[in-house]
Amino acid sequence: MDFATIVQKRYATKQFDGKKIPEENVNQLLEMIRFAPSSFNIQPWKVVVISDQTVKEKLQPFSWNQPQITSCSHLLVFCADTDIENIIQRLEKQLVDEGAKKESIQRYLDMIRNFTKGLTPEQNVAWVQKQVYIALGNALNGAKALGFDSCPMEGFDQKGYTDTLHLPETLIPTVLCPIGYGSDQPTPKMRFAREDVFMRI
Ligand SMILES: Cc1cc2nc3c(=O)[nH]c(=O)nc-3n(C[C@H](O)[C@H](O)[C@H](O)COP(=O)(O)O)c2cc1C
Repeated sequence: MDFATIVQKRYATKQFDGKKIPEENVNQLLEMIRFAPSSFNIQPWKVVVISDQTVKEKLQPFSWNQPQITSCSHLLVFCADTDIENIIQRLEKQLVDEGAKKESIQRYLDMIRNFTKGLTPEQNVAWVQKQVYIALGNALNGAKALGFDSCPMEGFDQKGYTDTLHLPETLIPTVLCPIGYGSDQPTPKMRFAREDVFMRI
């Protein structure tokens, strides 16, 4: 399937058939997520990958009881990692381990520190969450490319997820992406007209 077809065929699946996606394909999707772009390449995300049915059942009441949660093969919980200083230190360590000279990456790390220093805590969360949605985009189209379905979901209770998954307070559950094989039918696509969407200058 070429990318244009993938974009047309992907749809927000409401019901999955419960079959498990082969682990090899799940791992291919996780790689597509891992390689998503991010501002400064900061990669401020952690994706919780849930295949355990008991955990999915515990999460369903915190997901507006939406049927995708328990009928999917795997539930991906995209979390925003707000601990920027920790991420910067991880970036530094990995770059140095890969052969970069500390002096040569200092300017880059300072640039990230200077940028994030100017953000309020709320702005920091918003900035980090924006990056998470780019990774989500890879997951949604990537799933279709690999032959299965997905649904982006914001209909869930953040605290319920944090508590059930015992997440540290620096990780914010931001958006869900259940994946599996859809057993519903996609509804016809409704989108605004080109002239409403694009402004050519
Ligand atoms: C950020 C976001 C949150 C969404 N949350 C939900 C949700 O909680 N439950 C659901 O069934 N669909 C959810 N959707 C799916 C949208 O309703 C769907 O993408 C939109 O109607 C367009 O349909 P399509 O994706 O099938 O083309 C969400 C979509 C996005 C992008």
